[in-house]
Amino acid sequence: ITIRRATIDDLLCMQNANLNNLPENYLFKYYMYHILSWPEASFVATTTGDVSNPQDVFEDLAQEQNVEIKRDPTYIRPGEKLVGYVLAKMNDDPTQQNEPANGHITSLSVMRTYRRMGIAEKLMRQALFALREVYQAEYVSLHVRQSNRAALHLYRDTLTFEVLSVEKSYYQDGEDAYAMKKVLVLDE
Ligand code: ACO
Repeated sequence: ITIRRATIDDLLCMQNANLNNLPENYLFKYYMYHILSWPEASFVATTTGDVSNPQDVFEDLAQEQNVEIKRDPTYIRPGEKLVGYVLAKMNDDPTQQNEPANGHITSLSVMRTYRRMGIAEKLMRQALFALREVYQAEYVSLHVRQSNRAALHLYRDTLTFEVLSVEKSYYQDGEDAYAMKKVLVLDE
């Protein structure tokens, strides 16, 4: 597994992973907005070396025969598959200009078969480091469903986020969210 900065080329796969893993989905232009505005804040986890991808093996033949091939939407490019992502931004809400610089985790997910391997923790640590070092964020915030045990464990216990408040009916289906926050220690 490789963790690296997310680029524009990764966005379709990130959106695909998000659609697979979470009910909170975003327009493609919102992914683009993150990468264009804070190009160093978002990260992907990828894996290489799976030759079973029909995209690299059969593409030429398919083209020649004028047949459609079903692409595996987790492939960023032949031989590189996306297994997780973290989409992060700085808070650019104009009504909060008196606040110190702060970051926000818009979305995090790991494909089901790659969970419980420490990938989400690694993605989060990279994003927190970048928000602090590159964008001078003094703290970072996020929302999580009250029923999301896995994510809550990761944020509260592993990454020491604190619960700031409960936001009633934050989600479209009426579920409450925990608003969470972690102070980032700025280097001198
Ligand atoms: N139940 C309890 N604890 C769990 C679970 C679980 N199902 N999954 C992970 N954890 C714990 C791990 O044991 C680990 O704890 P430790 O530090 O004590 O060892 C910690 O959480 C981190 O585990 P990772 O292996 O890094 O997490 P993983 O790569 O499996 O990803 C994630 C966790 C992202 C929550 C994954 O389950 C997922 O994609 N879920 C669906 C999408 C989702 O809920 N995303 C978060 C929404 S909130 C937001 O986006 C801001």
